[in-house]
Amino acid sequence: MRAALIESPGSPAVSGERPEPTRGEGEVLVAVSAAPIVPLDRLCASGTSYFGVPPTPYVPGVQGVGLVLDGSADLPKGTPVWFATSAGMQPGDGSMRAVAAVPVHDVVALPPGADPVLVAALGLSAVAAWMALTLRGGLTAGERVLVLGAGGVVGQAAIQLARSAGAGRIVAAARGERSGDRALALGADVAVSLGGTASDDVPDVAELADRLRVDGPVDLVVDPLFGVPAAAALRVLRPHGRLVNLGGSAAETSPIDSSTLRSRSLRLLGYTNNDLTPEQRAGALTHVVDEVLAGRLTAAHEPVPLVDVTGVWNHAGDRIVLIP
Ligand SMILES: NC(=O)c1ccc[n+]([C@@H]2O[C@H](COP(=O)([O-])OP(=O)(O)OC[C@H]3O[C@@H](n4cnc5c(N)ncnc54)[C@H](OP(=O)(O)O)[C@@H]3O)[C@@H](O)[C@H]2O)c1
Repeated sequence: MRAALIESPGSPAVSGERPEPTRGEGEVLVAVSAAPIVPLDRLCASGTSYFGVPPTPYVPGVQGVGLVLDGSADLPKGTPVWFATSAGMQPGDGSMRAVAAVPVHDVVALPPGADPVLVAALGLSAVAAWMALTLRGGLTAGERVLVLGAGGVVGQAAIQLARSAGAGRIVAAARGERSGDRALALGADVAVSLGGTASDDVPDVAELADRLRVDGPVDLVVDPLFGVPAAAALRVLRPHGRLVNLGGSAAETSPIDSSTLRSRSLRLLGYTNNDLTPEQRAGALTHVVDEVLAGRLTAAHEPVPLVDVTGVWNHAGDRIVLIP
């Protein structure tokens, strides 16, 4: 069957063949209809992640959407499902193939009517945005939220999920005018440039903090970037405010100063989806899909045939969703 393959760490995925899996004890077989390429897939395949160098060849893809091909009484044939895998983090194959064998506890049944490609595009990025806002960030109605990296899927989802959860003002910070305009269209009150485009140099921490303060202090920062943006965002938090870091898209380290942290008793928190129980993850994914069905949640994405995986593996724009 058709599959994307990582043949050696650090190389882009290629289109190839893999034997069709058989269903093991406690597993279901899923006919995959959509599998996104996310930063975690690329990071794991690079061999530089904190999970170590993955054994190759393997099929990448930490999540997908499809229809049950061979299931159980609870998950009969034809059920639409979202599923997670540990591809690249542990030995084994992931979602970027025609058929996947998945442990039952990693499968979430989807309600009818949800667009499988959009659900795949949002997937774990939206789960992380929702849990960073709520479980980790403790968002309460009326609070002011600053979303960094608002051009990415985590950022797009965080804006919309914060809005529907009753956030007060939402400030969105992104690189590039297009991402800023989209953030406003998705429900942000203010869009701020992070710099880094041809017309706008990368600001230092103090300059970026001034930009982010345009709307006054905030209660909660959702931070998929770290680096200078995180250090600047901390300066915009009100006393006892929280910053939840869930990624390092801008940098692995950040020039955070002690006086900013201690002078206002700020809380700097880390978040990973890998810490969720299967039940928590299923609950968050179900909330995400409910929001999609209610017309309150979307993300820019582009479907691409799986055979073309190599050309889009390192694509930096809208979320790519592979169609096997
Ligand atoms: N902890 C978790 O469980 C978890 C779950 C999901 C994702 N994440 C992490 O969260 C991050 C974002 O994920 P995503 O799904 O939103 O990915 P994505 O859709 O690919 O977005 C990446 C974002 O990073 C921005 N970016 C990249 N380099 C930057 C830089 N030097 N300065 C400022 N912004 C920069 C991009 O801005 P442009 O749009 O301007 O290019 C884009 O907004 C990734 O690091 C990912 O690994 C963590």
